[in-house]
Amino acid sequence: MNLSAIIFFLLVMLYNTFKDNFKRLKKRTGKMKKSCKEIKEELVMQRAKEMWLGIDTFYCATSHPERAKAIESFLKNEFFPLLKKTDNVAEFACAEGEYTLMVAPHVNKIDAFDLSERFILKAKKRMQENGITNVNFVGNGVDVTTFTISEKYDAFVCLGLFSYIPERKKADHVVEQIAGSLSKGSPLVLNDKIWKGKTRLHLKKKLGAISRSKEEYLSLFEKDFEVLKAVTLQECDQFEGFACIMVKK
Ligand SMILES: C[S@@+](CC[C@H](N)C(=O)[O-])C[C@H]1O[C@@H](n2cnc3c(N)ncnc32)[C@H](O)[C@@H]1O
Repeated sequence: MNLSAIIFFLLVMLYNTFKDNFKRLKKRTGKMKKSCKEIKEELVMQRAKEMWLGIDTFYCATSHPERAKAIESFLKNEFFPLLKKTDNVAEFACAEGEYTLMVAPHVNKIDAFDLSERFILKAKKRMQENGITNVNFVGNGVDVTTFTISEKYDAFVCLGLFSYIPERKKADHVVEQIAGSLSKGSPLVLNDKIWKGKTRLHLKKKLGAISRSKEEYLSLFEKDFEVLKAVTLQECDQFEGFACIMVKK
């Protein structure tokens, strides 16, 4: 037997001896990787909530005028034609009621939700100032990632929310609640920032957010919804402002 045959024979013996240990180690490392990802997502989610609860005002037309214009024309051209005056609608992440105000005249009623009590107070004032009486703000700050919807709706509005729900389980819960409240063929309008490469978590001192890849973003909805219309509202180097209308399967 030459030397290389002896080495090969020894390596095979060594592998057979430690085979089970290798497998166990591989499995454990896999689990550890998963939990590191989950821990980071939890941290980002926590930071996102702190961020929104610490902000006094968010009005897209003031902070991001281009985005606001693009969303407004997307709603007018693609979403409003799908609505009926008798429709009961829900909106998650209504903030100060910027888009609530635009949707309200087209429907019977809107139930609007947001995490921030400060935003809800401002939104209520804005509705009053504009003579809008068909919007019901649910609670004084509701975390929709733990909320259970008991009502049925004819349409759903969810603009700029999923970027602040990095935890997959929580995002799945929100989609499940939205889907459960709609009947077949009902529309859901969405807008979020989509990362052009792989999904990215943003964790800074005062920022917590997720920019999902388009593939991952769409995968959140694929079980319950199909895409009716999808457009790029804004294009930047690394991300795109993505808007779409989905219909319940
Ligand atoms: C980027 S703003 C979008 C506001 C508005 N829909 C728009 O498109 O301009 C995100 C909003 O989501 C709300 N939000 C973030 N996390 C939330 C949560 N877990 N539950 C409810 N609202 C949440 C924030 O308070 C904030 O008003």
